[in-house]
Amino acid sequence: MEKPILILGIESSCDETCAAICRDGRIISNMVAGQKVHMQYGGVVPELASRTHMQHIVPVVDAALKEAGCSLKEVDAIAFTQSPGLIGSLLVGAQFAKSLALALHKPLIAVHHMQAHVIANLIDEDKPAFPFLCLTVSGGHTQIVVCRSPHEIEVLGETIDDAAGEAFDKSAKLLGLPYPGGPLIDQYARSGNSRKFEFPEPQIPGLGFSFSGLKTSILYFLRNGGRSKVYKEEYAVSDEERQRFIKENIEDICASIQERICTILLNKLKKATDETGIRDVCLAGGVSANSGLRTAFRDLGEKSGWRTFIPAFEYCTDNAGMIAMTGHYKFLDGKFDDLAVNVSARTY
Ligand code: KG4
Ligand code: ZN
Repeated sequence: MEKPILILGIESSCDETCAAICRDGRIISNMVAGQKVHMQYGGVVPELASRTHMQHIVPVVDAALKEAGCSLKEVDAIAFTQSPGLIGSLLVGAQFAKSLALALHKPLIAVHHMQAHVIANLIDEDKPAFPFLCLTVSGGHTQIVVCRSPHEIEVLGETIDDAAGEAFDKSAKLLGLPYPGGPLIDQYARSGNSRKFEFPEPQIPGLGFSFSGLKTSILYFLRNGGRSKVYKEEYAVSDEERQRFIKENIEDICASIQERICTILLNKLKKATDETGIRDVCLAGGVSANSGLRTAFRDLGEKSGWRTFIPAFEYCTDNAGMIAMTGHYKFLDGKFDDLAVNVSARTY
């Protein structure tokens, strides 16, 4: 019997240190160490993130190997996140991966984080067929792509300002909720009425997205105690009144914000399927953990005759399983990188 292909994946683009092992195209271990240190600051502090990655990376890689029951010597290649992300955070994962590759004489594979979010849809047994569409919604990026093969991904549309995750997190911040607020909005929205307050849908041509207008309208809506979504000096309420309004309506406000973010995303996705005729449609990225978006996506798919796919929860938020899986496809294609490969904070 031939030896299985074992890929070690390392992900450190933001505030989670992750390692995973892919064995012949199946993820057999997937470890994540979160960083609680940022909560007190209301957002990720880049310098603290890279320092914490340095503390976590050895034990996390070790745990991934143990869980998979394999040793470093058996690994065939080391895949790591090259871009996009926080530069210091990326550097920790990249340097660690390069050191391993050099010491073990194993090939190195640089992986694009956004490509990996899309490839997360190929981890499950039930896979979409090529070409498929993917709506990737994360904390830093929002994209609709067509995936023709694991290596051929074309961006059809993306956000021109905030990402969907930022829209959730910034809205939550305006409501006085702690970071990251996305999951909390999801929680409150479950018992709220999404029709109670209507927020505007931006008119962006093509398949692009914009979320900054929504953020501004939420800001004024709260400043005006719910009486207007535009700047109106005469409606401005005191801080106490604003707090009381939020407290009394938190479920309905969260449900209404979530509803608008979902319709902005799904109206564009529907447009993309109409324009391309593609019927296998996927969701990816951290925001695909949102229960309202998952339900609305499945419902729209059923109504429109799509086959819909969403990765398992652990492969939606940042993880190394998706990096190891992308590494696996690159390994099969002989796509390796040399030790001089650089990390990049930007998408391209
Ligand atoms: O993909 P991801 O884990 O990290 C990035 O690559 O950015 O996405 C993180 C984002 C955060 O903005 C977080 O608030 C959001 O995903 N998120 C959610 C939910 N779970 C995570 N947003 C709304 N509802 C959720 N349940
Ligand atoms: Zn991500």
